[in-house]
Amino acid sequence: MHKICVIEGDGIGKEVVPAAVEVLKATGVEFEFNHALAGDEVFEKTGVALPEETIAAAKAADAILFGAAGETAADVIVKLRKILDTYANIRPVKSYNGINCLKTGIDYIIVRENTEGLYKGIEAEIAGGVTVATRVITKDASERIFKHAFELAKDRKKQGTAGKVTCAHKANVLKITDGLFKKTFYEVSNDYNDIQTEDFYVDAMNMFIISRPETFDIVVTSNLFGDILSDGAVGMVGGLGMAPSGNVGDKYGLFEPIHGSAPDIAGKGLANPTATILTAVMMLRYLKENEAAERVEKALEEVLSLGLTTPDLGGTLSTSEMGQEVAKRV
Ligand code: NAI
Ligand code: MG
Repeated sequence: MHKICVIEGDGIGKEVVPAAVEVLKATGVEFEFNHALAGDEVFEKTGVALPEETIAAAKAADAILFGAAGETAADVIVKLRKILDTYANIRPVKSYNGINCLKTGIDYIIVRENTEGLYKGIEAEIAGGVTVATRVITKDASERIFKHAFELAKDRKKQGTAGKVTCAHKANVLKITDGLFKKTFYEVSNDYNDIQTEDFYVDAMNMFIISRPETFDIVVTSNLFGDILSDGAVGMVGGLGMAPSGNVGDKYGLFEPIHGSAPDIAGKGLANPTATILTAVMMLRYLKENEAAERVEKALEEVLSLGLTTPDLGGTLSTSEMGQEVAKRV
């Protein structure tokens, strides 16, 4: 029995999360779903965007499935990632048949450091018209993100991938911070002799995710670089409606589609549930329900290739109808 904290949040979160929960129920895996509130709506009612009960429910669960928040996103999801110390942001990039991808044969995962770098938030105006931001890279945080990346590569290699980790950095210019980042990458790699390694400067990497994305297996990078690279990467495989993510630490796993609450289409049944169903697949793998994860992904692949989709992918189904097409094939 897995205890799942379900936070639908705002806007299309209320549509895509129920669709994914239906699919999870169809797997036959035993779940206990605990629903908790967060986002704009609860903020308007109570003045708090992320209630204490929600934090407690998240901590009590085996995994958290999150939809989207609206304007309160920074106070909800960014805060929750910090509270749960989910230091690894996992962003799969995969091309599915039936989706208008810019290239085929893409199947890799971006592992982004989630706690430091330029997003540490250390900024100041040191004189009139002069501002600075501090980029924090520590050996400890680098070691744990690289270990996470190599462990993922090891797991995937068992399933038949190349077994390779690519590190993206800018050590030629950021000599001290990314010097440490790159050095630590190769130190950690010594514990994983059966995994290949390579590293690229992030600007070149940005070209490679477009020109030869099919050559990557695991890509690991720092916070800001990962944010930028991963949006470009998912742009290659169908965009926001197709893009899942996970935030994983030593104790907690928080899973969410990359997209937001999409107020322009909310409440109309137009939202594509694929990103959230793929997010549920990631959550199943995190819970070691690999066989159920395979079944869901296969069912979804079939639905996508048959064109049984929401309008953004060219189909005519609503969010819940598309979810049901997946659920009945699971
Ligand atoms: P958004 O991701 O909500 O929407 C961007 C565009 O993509 C919109 O045109 C939307 O209709 C479309 N889109 C997004 N998801 C889709 C789906 N599943 N199916 C079909 N089309 C989809 O980003 P936007 O518009 O920048 O932000 C809207 C609100 O969401 C803001 O209040 C923002 O703060 C919040 N937000 C929350 C996030 C989170 O909770 N993790 C992440 C990003 C934004
Ligand atoms: Mg981003």
